[in-house]
Amino acid sequence: MSGVNQIRTAFLDYFAHHGHEKVASSSLVPHNDPTLMFTNAGMVPFKNVFTGVEKRAYARAASAQKCVRAGGKHNDLDNVGYTARHHTFFEMLGNFSFGDYFKEGAIELAWNLITREFGLNVDRLLVTVYHDDDEAYDLWKKIAGFEDSRIIRIASADNFWSMGDTGPCGPCSEIFYDQGEALKGGPPGSPDEDGDRFLEFWNLVFMQYEQVAPGQRAPLPRPSIDTGMGLERIAALMQGVTSNYDIDLFRTLTGAVADFTGAPVDGPQGASHRVIADHLRAASFLVADGVTPSNEGRGYVLRRIMRRAMRHAQLLGAKEPLMWRLAPTLVAEMGQAYPELVRAQSLIADTLLSEETRFRATLARGLAILDEETAALGQGDKLSGETAFKLYDTYGFPLDLTEDALRPRGIGVDKEIFNAAMERQRADARKAWAGSGETATEALWFALKERLGATEFLGYETERSEGVVTAIIHDGGEAFSLKEGARGALILNQTPFYGESGGQVGDVGVMRARGVRFRVENTVKKLGDLIVHEGVVEEGEITPGLALELDVDHERRTQSRANHSATHILHEALRQVLGEHVAQKGSLVAPDRLRFDFTHPRPLSDEELARVETLANEIVQDNAPVETRVMAQDDAIRSGARALFGEKYGDEVRVVSMGPLNPGAAAHPFSVELCGGTHVSRTGDIGLIAIVGEGAVASGVRRIEARTAEGARSQLVSQSRALRDMAALMRAPLEDAPARLAALLDERKRLERELADAKRKLAMGGGAGDGAAEKPRDIGGVKLLARAVEGIEAKDLKSMVDDAKKAIGSGVVAIASASPDGKAGIVVGVTDDLTERYSAVDFVRVASVMLGGKGGGGRPDLAQAGGPNAAAIDQALASVEDALRGKAAAP
Ligand code: ALA
Repeated sequence: MSGVNQIRTAFLDYFAHHGHEKVASSSLVPHNDPTLMFTNAGMVPFKNVFTGVEKRAYARAASAQKCVRAGGKHNDLDNVGYTARHHTFFEMLGNFSFGDYFKEGAIELAWNLITREFGLNVDRLLVTVYHDDDEAYDLWKKIAGFEDSRIIRIASADNFWSMGDTGPCGPCSEIFYDQGEALKGGPPGSPDEDGDRFLEFWNLVFMQYEQVAPGQRAPLPRPSIDTGMGLERIAALMQGVTSNYDIDLFRTLTGAVADFTGAPVDGPQGASHRVIADHLRAASFLVADGVTPSNEGRGYVLRRIMRRAMRHAQLLGAKEPLMWRLAPTLVAEMGQAYPELVRAQSLIADTLLSEETRFRATLARGLAILDEETAALGQGDKLSGETAFKLYDTYGFPLDLTEDALRPRGIGVDKEIFNAAMERQRADARKAWAGSGETATEALWFALKERLGATEFLGYETERSEGVVTAIIHDGGEAFSLKEGARGALILNQTPFYGESGGQVGDVGVMRARGVRFRVENTVKKLGDLIVHEGVVEEGEITPGLALELDVDHERRTQSRANHSATHILHEALRQVLGEHVAQKGSLVAPDRLRFDFTHPRPLSDEELARVETLANEIVQDNAPVETRVMAQDDAIRSGARALFGEKYGDEVRVVSMGPLNPGAAAHPFSVELCGGTHVSRTGDIGLIAIVGEGAVASGVRRIEARTAEGARSQLVSQSRALRDMAALMRAPLEDAPARLAALLDERKRLERELADAKRKLAMGGGAGDGAAEKPRDIGGVKLLARAVEGIEAKDLKSMVDDAKKAIGSGVVAIASASPDGKAGIVVGVTDDLTERYSAVDFVRVASVMLGGKGGGGRPDLAQAGGPNAAAIDQALASVEDALRGKAAAP
């Protein structure tokens, strides 16, 4: 029972048997604690349970928790490789009581496990207690039967455990194993306690306080228990080896390193094997938990770990990138206990390969410079800070890598000069910025960015986390408080809120603390990676340093995700249907809709749109996984990922691929794009893509609009409801409705025509009317036909006048009508034989005066006028007659 996997299982089973809930390991990125860089102890996921903020269904728990101690309060990076027991990544086995059992229960459970179940030699065990903890002292005496010499009182911080600068804490009792005189070292508390002989392997913390702020401690609601046993250490004891690196798991990993490099594990280069094996674990687990190598924050710690291992691979003579080839061995060893490792295997290998490929491009040159610069140095000397900075800046050597390289020769680094060079570089960047003519507010962002660094974005992995307020912006400047009712913007050290970019709108949501609520109305990005939350304080007051629980509006984010992924699919579908010339010109990804602009010379036909939509929905139905990896920009472009022309990307880019493999020799997924947005996990999550509009944006640029998921469904439902209603009104089955509607429209046109004819005929007395009305009268030798009609529109009056002109052969025709809207119109025609003598225009002018119009106009043979005065149409006609009479009488 002494393999690592068996010990882990035995530990969890033992505590489950004693009423503990088995709890799976949490992420290495602590979503519930903004003050921590990485989860560094088994109790971290339970922090809020200890303080009483969070309730769980159980009062006892046990876990095997992934931990990283690199960067932050507990940092072991520098020691790894050179000692028997330091790791950047390790597993902590722990049992926890939340106000249930306390010291006695904890000591009893621990004692029984190690002596009865694990069979450790009782005579080799000893413990420490905090110097004034008589209770623990007496309990050890009672339970273990230890004599006084084996219970050591320690006054220092070694026996008072705290998670970080804040958080739950308490006195502790540590269990040690004496590995025998062959190893150097003395018992705890003695001057040579740092030796390897007495190995501390289990820490029992009696959680009693919460460190609220430095120097301020409050009692926990109920005394609790937190224990932590290093799995690698207990495995070493049970396997009878004195170095963690000799347990089964590590021998498998270092063995694989030896297989690939040909350098024996137990030769002079053992430290390199150990560094590589340790860092392989840390890097792989961090990548699986969503961390990607970068130049800031967690990503930079990951990069430092990776590059340190990669230098050691080079030391072992690896001619090709090595780390990625080790990933399968690690996954085979640990994948069963940590399924996330299996899921992320290809991402891990890709990330390792791309980082090592990039770093190898400068590694040899950097090492040569390091050799030259240190050739004359010896033990106790220091490498110049300028050289260390050049190695950092030009060759990608993190400072700790340079230190690690010089350590075997006892050479240090002049860190003061290194830091000064770093500061100078920042100042230069600031100057370059100031010279670019940006506005004062941009200068504010720049100052904040420089002081705070990039905001750590957690939103690819989670929609909830905690974060600490690092800056408040109010009225265009920095503020030190934001009071209830005030609007402003907050910057936090980390956030799950997505800042508007790449077409995707910013997240909204809430941030809360006891008595405090901030409503996030929008999230934006400044200077690339400073995430700014805009909104209003709905309750309480916000000050820098406040820890808030951050909660992204889940519904909206889910919808945006579907729309963003749909945009990628439509992009590729458009290319496949319309051709390679299709290039993205812009996009909008909102929760309720998406818009995609692209180059194409003409409108899309209905048939093209239908093909795009069908293809896109085939990809959705395929339900293929959506995968994200981080690559060097050049590699990403070379591998065929689509980038937006003219868009600025960092050195490292996220590459999002989705859909089934495109057929062809270089098979790659349907869509592969550089993108920093948030996406669904499988294409099926999009549900449905409905194109709802197509139009022009500029010459040669088209835009399609679409909806997905529920938005698409409800749109289609309301459309089909409208269609059904329409069909019902037409009394036709739905499928016959279009033909029926077309027939109705034709019929309507015909009826309109017939109605106009009938009206005309009626107006001219062509019906049953009084025949006398037809007859023209003779006015001074010229025939005049003058008529008032009703409800005839101007265009119809004209054709009536034409008809009448033909009917009388020679003469003048005047027809006036009051239209249904109360206005009057008159049309006058003069037959061609008379236009030399009379002009229709003259006649409508006089009529227009009567109608209150502006004079009218037309040609000598046909003119018209109108006016508001509908009651005066008879006078208007009379005035035409008078005018004709006057002219006819004239010589
Ligand atoms: N939290 C305690 C530790 O990490 C058990 O040592």
